Amino acid sequence: MILLSVVGARPNFMKLAPLARALGGRSGVRHVIVHTGQHYDAEMSDTFFAELGIPRPQHNLEVGSGSHAAQTAAIMLRFEPVCLETKPDAVLVYGDVNSTVAAALVAAKLGIRIGHVEAGLRSRDWTMPEEINRVVTDRLADLLFTPSRDANANLRAEGVPDERMHFVGNIMIDSLVASLDAARALAAPRRHGVEGRPYVLVTLHRPGNVDAPDTLCELLEALTALSADAPVLFPVHPRTRVRIRDLGWRAPAGDALRLLDPLPYLELLSLEMAARLVVTDSGGLQEESSYLGVPCLTVRPSTERPVTCTEGTNRLVAARREAVLAAARDAVAAPRRRVTIERWDGHAADRIAEVLVDGARFT
Ligand code: UD1
Repeated sequence: MILLSVVGARPNFMKLAPLARALGGRSGVRHVIVHTGQHYDAEMSDTFFAELGIPRPQHNLEVGSGSHAAQTAAIMLRFEPVCLETKPDAVLVYGDVNSTVAAALVAAKLGIRIGHVEAGLRSRDWTMPEEINRVVTDRLADLLFTPSRDANANLRAEGVPDERMHFVGNIMIDSLVASLDAARALAAPRRHGVEGRPYVLVTLHRPGNVDAPDTLCELLEALTALSADAPVLFPVHPRTRVRIRDLGWRAPAGDALRLLDPLPYLELLSLEMAARLVVTDSGGLQEESSYLGVPCLTVRPSTERPVTCTEGTNRLVAARREAVLAAARDAVAAPRRRVTIERWDGHAADRIAEVLVDGARFT
């Protein structure tokens, strides 16, 4: 059996790693990895392959950055010959980035079965490119691996037959569980001089938050105000870095609000585990902070991961200074609690491998 995984952007890599491990242990399975090159900076890509022990991709399409159309089209043009040459039994795509939908379109047109890892999530916010990618990919996929029961309900409401859905759990949590000891041993809070102190960990990169100067300004002011009470560590995504530079904004004097380069997976996890509060617009951090029981404010009008709000520690907040500050006060005052979410248990990849190789079903 030849299985071909396509990844391209940072959040894909934590989802690929556990499945690469699970498939690597199966006899009779050849797992081919294709990197589209959507993310290409070492700190956005290579470090993740190294830390997560992902085998070197057999193909790198080196598409780089561009408009959505240019990037998606470049991936399609360069991925098609790889598919024709490799002749996979199934193409596996991950999450909701442009690489996901581009590879799914190519596979569908070639009549190759598609497995979508992290299927069925819906924000119902059509202004998000990820929502378009999710809906189109799920429509094309033959095997839909869902992380939570709400995802199955979304798919059912769109007419997807039950036989195509497999509620396998959250594969991102597989990577987290496998990395907890190493992340703890890294002791990143000590290296950042915040050990034993309450601190806030921030990531922001969604176009909705960083592309409009007014909104970005408002958020930077909120972070500045937060940093009066506790250190704020803010690893900055490349697109956010450019927007902050365009704004001409300077961090306040002192080191209470620290703009850092993007962090490797283990270092970020090590900081996340011990944070007093996470402020983010990332999908992955919403999930990880819930699993870790760390309060999280998600600066977005909606989330495609509602279990993180209903079962976990997540709360949505508007991109306004006062809203962020009020929510931060509430979140920090609330008692901490243990979170368990169904099938977020470190075994999602094993279940996916059982479906792919043994024909198992997970309902
Ligand atoms: C992409 C995903 C988003 C995901 C995010 C995680 C889409 C539509 N978006 O957004 O869902 O949450 O990845 O990071 O697929 N850049 C670099 N170096 C890199 C990669 C990007 O400098 O290695 C800069 C470039 O200026 C580029 C910009 O970041 O134009 C945006 O990159 P792109 O891949 O288009 O989208 P992300 O914002 O990273």
